[in-house]
Parts: sequence; structure tokens; C-alpha cells
Amino acid sequence: MIVCHCQNITHQDIDAAIDWMRAADETTLITPGKVYRALGKSPDCGGCMSLFLGTMRKNDNLEVPMNLRRLRGGETQENQACKATPKSSNI
Ligand code: FES
Repeated sequence: MIVCHCQNITHQDIDAAIDWMRAADETTLITPGKVYRALGKSPDCGGCMSLFLGTMRKNDNLEVPMNLRRLRGGETQENQACKATPKSSNI
């Protein structure tokens, strides 16, 4: 089924792009813009966005990586103690 008529993008194209991005980087956030870029295209009229997003949401590989969840509830990565570099008291 064609999802974006301006750029002739099908739901198979969207699924393939999402699967490819998730396989390349399991921590990446996948957005419609990234899907367009992965397909070498860019949106024109934007009239397909709700269908485009709906198609993206049906893909199991779209889920947000665990380390990026719950960022709105005050538990941000900035609020968490950094375990990579110990605190230094003589700075
Ligand atoms: S239908 Fe997708 S940008 Fe126009």
C-alpha cells in the first residue's frame, strides 16, 4: 500500500527502513524524518504524516530504547549519577 503519494513510499519501504535502522543501531530513536532520509527522500506536502506515523507504529522495531525511556518523569540522564567518571573533590 502506498503511504506517501508525493514520494511514492509504500508501507514495505517504511518497514524496511525501520528494520535497517534498528539493525544498524539498537539505541537510535527512529523518527519519520530519519525514515525519509534512509529512503533518500523528503516529505513534500505532509498530508501523509498521520498514516506514515500509523504505519511506523505497527513495526515492532520502532520501540524506544530502554535507556531513553522515562526521561519526562524527572528521571533524566542528567539527573542520574555518572558512573563512567568518578567525582573529583580537588577541581
Ligand atoms: S503524501 Fe507524503 S509528503 Fe505528500
